[in-house]
Amino acid sequence: NFCFLPASAQMPANYDEDKIKPYQLPDPLRMENGKTVTSSKQWEKQRIAILNLFKTHVYGAMPGKVAGLTFRTLSVDSMALDGKAIRKQIAVIFGKDANSPKMEVLLYLPVEAKSPVPVFAGLNFYGNQTVHTDPGINLPTGWIANGPTGVENNIANVASRGFQTERWQLEELISRGYGLATAYYGDLEPDHAEGWKTGIRTTLAKSLGLQAQEWSAIGAWAWGLSRMMDYLETEPLVNARQVALTGHSRLGKAALWAAANDTRFAIVISNNSGEGGAALARRNYGETVEVINTSFPHWFVAKFKEYNKDPNQLPVDQHMLLALMAPRPLYVASAVEDQWADPKGEFLGAKHAEPVYQLFNKKGLGVVQMPDVNQPVGDVVAYHIRSGKHDINAYDWQQYLNFADRHFNNPAK
Ligand code: GCU
Repeated sequence: NFCFLPASAQMPANYDEDKIKPYQLPDPLRMENGKTVTSSKQWEKQRIAILNLFKTHVYGAMPGKVAGLTFRTLSVDSMALDGKAIRKQIAVIFGKDANSPKMEVLLYLPVEAKSPVPVFAGLNFYGNQTVHTDPGINLPTGWIANGPTGVENNIANVASRGFQTERWQLEELISRGYGLATAYYGDLEPDHAEGWKTGIRTTLAKSLGLQAQEWSAIGAWAWGLSRMMDYLETEPLVNARQVALTGHSRLGKAALWAAANDTRFAIVISNNSGEGGAALARRNYGETVEVINTSFPHWFVAKFKEYNKDPNQLPVDQHMLLALMAPRPLYVASAVEDQWADPKGEFLGAKHAEPVYQLFNKKGLGVVQMPDVNQPVGDVVAYHIRSGKHDINAYDWQQYLNFADRHFNNPAK
């Protein structure tokens, strides 16, 4: 499977636990006045304070809905996937004018659904057509990163159909009673340093009342996920109170940021999200703040670069981002061969979000040690480290489906 190989992958990285300098994590419960949050009621205010710190120092502003947001159904096929699913394609148009920037949502629902179904939602890397070989899926027309089969000169052709079926497990989802909603992240902002110039940070600057540099690519992707949710709320076959947001890697970072801002996402799943995602920034292991800011300057705001040399100066760390999911079920996953993402740092991110879950009388992760390979742990906060490489695969999806079954009390089947 193709994956991005950033220049930073060539930079020397530390993989020695003994070389991690001692660090102290900021306490998510410590308020600005020095007092400690002791109740879920008090947490509401603290939650906003932490969210604002992430806006200022890491991901930038998060605008609300754009005026005139419009949903236009482009196609419906009620006999998709050999009659097992309904396929809908919807243009989510960011304005009243039909020429406004838009994002195309691909939605599959189990044909047998008698009542609104829970849905997994997430962005994809190379276009909706890569999710399944289904020939009815529209090809994206915009910029796509070169690399995968069927992408030439940054344009996708039919040969890219089904390029990442393994990463979506669509048939499995449908057979277990779930829907899938996905969109191509490049519809929001092409993922390169100049991408903001043609992405929504520029094209919607006026309508959102925000300058491009006030937010980030991760912010733009996350914003798109909230607009996807706006659409899902209008879809009668979808149970919008049971949307599980998933994201792999950079799109895991975007999923976390989306769910931090938008509590309509009922479950949040971070798959190998690493640096700038679930992994603690203060741990100098694998990718670092400096390296990510150098390879992907557009992902975060300029302010984040001030912490390149010393992440200890950050007023936040990623356990606080994970804490913003509370009390919602949260799943953090790592892979053994994905040391770049710092599996232990991801585990510790989830672990140190625990005190906030406890305010809601939820145990959080509930274990002290990192579990063995392929041994999922936890209840409201769950974690696994799977064998194999940086990816999202059938094993990961099995765990996420079991997790959703548990927290959504079994899907309407
Ligand atoms: C690079 C990057 C990571 C990112 C990953 C991905 O490896 O350094 O931060 O998560 O790409 O998105 O696949």
